[in-house]
Amino acid sequence: MNKSLSGKTILLGVSGGIAAYKSATLCSRLVGLGAIVRVMMTEGATRFITPLTLQTLTRYPVATDVFDEKDASIVQHIDWADSADLAVIAPATANLLSKLANGLADDMISTTLLATTAPLLIAPAMNVHMWEHPAVIDNVNKLASRGATFVEPGTGQLACGYVGKGRLAEPDEIVEAIVAMLVGPKPLSGKRVLVTAGGTVERIDPVRYITNDSSGKMGFAIAEAARDRGAEVTLICGKTEANVPHGVNLVKVDSASQMHDAVMERLPGTDIVVKAAAVADYRPVHQATQKIKKTDDKMSLELVRNPDILLAVGEWKNAQPNKDKPLVIGFAAETNDVEKHAMDKLNRKKCDLIVANNVAETGAGFGTDTNIVSIYGPRGLIENVPQMTKRAVAEKLLDIAQSTLSLQQAQGDGKGPGR
Ligand code: CTP
Repeated sequence: MNKSLSGKTILLGVSGGIAAYKSATLCSRLVGLGAIVRVMMTEGATRFITPLTLQTLTRYPVATDVFDEKDASIVQHIDWADSADLAVIAPATANLLSKLANGLADDMISTTLLATTAPLLIAPAMNVHMWEHPAVIDNVNKLASRGATFVEPGTGQLACGYVGKGRLAEPDEIVEAIVAMLVGPKPLSGKRVLVTAGGTVERIDPVRYITNDSSGKMGFAIAEAARDRGAEVTLICGKTEANVPHGVNLVKVDSASQMHDAVMERLPGTDIVVKAAAVADYRPVHQATQKIKKTDDKMSLELVRNPDILLAVGEWKNAQPNKDKPLVIGFAAETNDVEKHAMDKLNRKKCDLIVANNVAETGAGFGTDTNIVSIYGPRGLIENVPQMTKRAVAEKLLDIAQSTLSLQQAQGDGKGPGR
């Protein structure tokens, strides 16, 4: 891999833990690779290592105070936020993780990070019990679900006397992660990925509708992961609660029928289709143009089947010549007999992969930031993915999608892996 970081600007946030001393090595390595490194330190960090050390290593003034505006022609934290190709926090203390997870902006690092749209890499360091505290776990999951990448702490002798997980990753490991994010290969570059996410909205009248609990988070995580792997991503999105990712072509739809049309018209030229949306199987036969007034004690709503979008995509795919067939990935939300239902859906809907989860399990399914899934191909189970953030699940899925795609291209037989 080309390791040069020449022309790249890295914002390095250093927070107040003993591991702050390792940021000197990190700065020196990054500058050695040609990066422009702009260091921000919390007040606590300056107790462990002086700003002068990091200024000398980076040849840039170190920012410690958001109000210390040295150049009147710019607003420094906005200027730095805009200039960044990547923001890195090393070490990230439990306190800083909490601030970032909750959107606080009360010092130079937290304020600048709220203002930047650059990707974020976080290398935490703390006592083992702090690292395992549910509050810290929640904050890490929250940040990961928003797209932050983590270089996990190492296990070993901690400065506080404990032996356990919490030691800042070695500077070389952090540099590897930075290089991978900034100049790493983009395996989906030149590929078009279409993702559906969220729940559909089936109107009853102008003020009422039928929908479901889908938050859109799983589909968003897949769209973000595909974007970060260099794909051109189209996100067809129903009703969602989560923040829509940036850097994708967003198409907002309401009903299953609208989603069907939006997907079908964009299929030609698409390499991977991921149907993560929770599509209503039925819609009201009549959609009243005026608010329905109550009348009798009982009222029935007549429903009619919606188009099955995944099935339509699978059938469309099978009608294409081999070279134009997209890889089709469906989801199966089940509460029982997961494998049986998943394989049945895969065959019925003619998909290449099915991501199945038991939505009755804690830590899986609608609204959560984590998921527990099993990924199946035409020959059965490919991988059981234990509980992890939806972003991490998305990365696993794309790894499998990429290898299935290259296998299909090599064999031209339209069959993926499976055991
Ligand atoms: N799906 C779709 N169009 C529909 C219903 C479902 O495209 N009208 C897609 C979903 O996006 C998902 C997959 O089909 O990728 C499975 O969804 P699920 O609701 O689990 O399956 P159903 O077809 O509704 O099957 P069943 O009712 O038998 O559980």
